[in-house]
Amino acid sequence: MVGTVQFGALAACIVLFVPMGLAGYHLSRNKILFFSGALFISLAVGVHLTPYFPIVTNYVSSFSSSLVLENHTSCISFLHEIVWDHHVQQPIMNKVDEKPSNVSSGFQNSWTWAKSTPVIACGFQKLGRSDASDLLNGSWVVVAGDSQARLFVLSLLELVLEPSEMELVRGDLFKRHSDYQTVIEKIGVKLDFVWAPYTANVTNLLMEYKRNRRYPDVLVMGTGLWDMLHINNASDYGVSLGLARQLVMMLLPFSSEFGNDGPVTGSISIQSPHMFWLGMPTLVESMLNTEEKREKMNFAVRNAYERELFKSKLLRQNGGPLLLLDINSLSGNCGGRCTVDGMHYDGAVYEAAIHVMLNALLVESQQRL
Ligand SMILES: *[C@@H]1O[C@H](CO)[C@@H](O)[C@H](O)[C@H]1NC(C)=O
Ligand SMILES: *[C@@H]1O[C@H](CO)[C@@H](O)[C@H](O)[C@H]1NC(C)=O
Ligand SMILES: *[C@@H]1O[C@H](CO)[C@@H](O)[C@H](O)[C@H]1NC(C)=O
Ligand SMILES: *[C@@H]1O[C@H](CO)[C@@H](O)[C@H](O)[C@H]1NC(C)=O
Ligand SMILES: *[C@@H]1O[C@H](CO)[C@@H](O)[C@H](O)[C@H]1NC(C)=O
Repeated sequence: MVGTVQFGALAACIVLFVPMGLAGYHLSRNKILFFSGALFISLAVGVHLTPYFPIVTNYVSSFSSSLVLENHTSCISFLHEIVWDHHVQQPIMNKVDEKPSNVSSGFQNSWTWAKSTPVIACGFQKLGRSDASDLLNGSWVVVAGDSQARLFVLSLLELVLEPSEMELVRGDLFKRHSDYQTVIEKIGVKLDFVWAPYTANVTNLLMEYKRNRRYPDVLVMGTGLWDMLHINNASDYGVSLGLARQLVMMLLPFSSEFGNDGPVTGSISIQSPHMFWLGMPTLVESMLNTEEKREKMNFAVRNAYERELFKSKLLRQNGGPLLLLDINSLSGNCGGRCTVDGMHYDGAVYEAAIHVMLNALLVESQQRL
């Protein structure tokens, strides 16, 4: 029996640490692939191993019975199964910027993945600073959009930077309506926030990448709120999304996977960028802070915009190329206790979105191995 236990421990160590070690040597500019695959396997095996640890024969069978784990595509669909916890907090008014970030609703909000069977089997992890840094090491990350996108960038920086470094960033990042670029030297990450309030701005950015034949490794885009407030025409919004879709398809080397909208011809083999759509948040009409917002961003308009997004087939769930970071569901589940203005949410919501994205990257990389 002792022999079995020791063998189990040894096997576990090999499974866990060998890929990690190898990963260390393979990290390079074109990064994510190997390392994240190894990390995902290790994490997943770790999760599966725990209950069966001393019994080697059982862990083999437990592994093969985990259908969800073998089908990584289906793990993607469980990424947003997140539950919230709210603790009453002394209300503190934060007036640093025009945008509420971490405070305000009087609640301390925290989240975890649901404890449902598929979620557990998929082994999602909140990555700590060093794992997230390893995962993003050497990458060029671009986030383009409106104030939601800015809050998303803020959460990403909060994850990878030390709190003291964060103080410096905060002021720059929150200059109204401007771009923000940074290079995080120690992990070789180049991070760009592009102020792109309209879909046309995102489309311009995509055209620029296409022209220069240089693509970020990770691209997160999202529009809607600004358009709703300043243009307020859902069908025009739909048209702009259709155009964005065409451009995204042209950027993808393997577009035949999604349709025949034209692959990049005769190009050098480019690594397909990882692309996400940052969805709009749940709007709490009664909390919106101007009459104009309450009028223009009402339930009906919001639904019309949502329908256009689905119709545009931009999202993978509708047969398109982009994976949705579902801020609507995350913010809706967090609820009114997570917002002060009915539109911008507590940092915890964007933090959850970051971890959804990082885990999606892990799942996807695993698929491609
Ligand atoms: C994996 O899951 C997806 C979505 O649930 C399903 O469409 C697909 O057929 C599954 N693939 C395999 C090999 O089971
Ligand atoms: C908001 O976050 C910053 C940095 O994380 C922190 O210094 C500040 O105290 C927070 N504000 C409140 C009111 O919690
Ligand atoms: C990032 O990768 C480089 C090699 O490409 C390595 O030297 C460095 O230690 C890595 N940094 C982190 C934080 O993993
Ligand atoms: C975004 O697009 C709008 C409409 O096309 C344009 O007026 C504006 O100048 C663009 N803004 C940026 C920052 O590119
Ligand atoms: C939206 O714009 C189109 C033209 O681009 C116009 O035909 C339509 O009437 C507009 N819809 C609304 C509700 O203003």
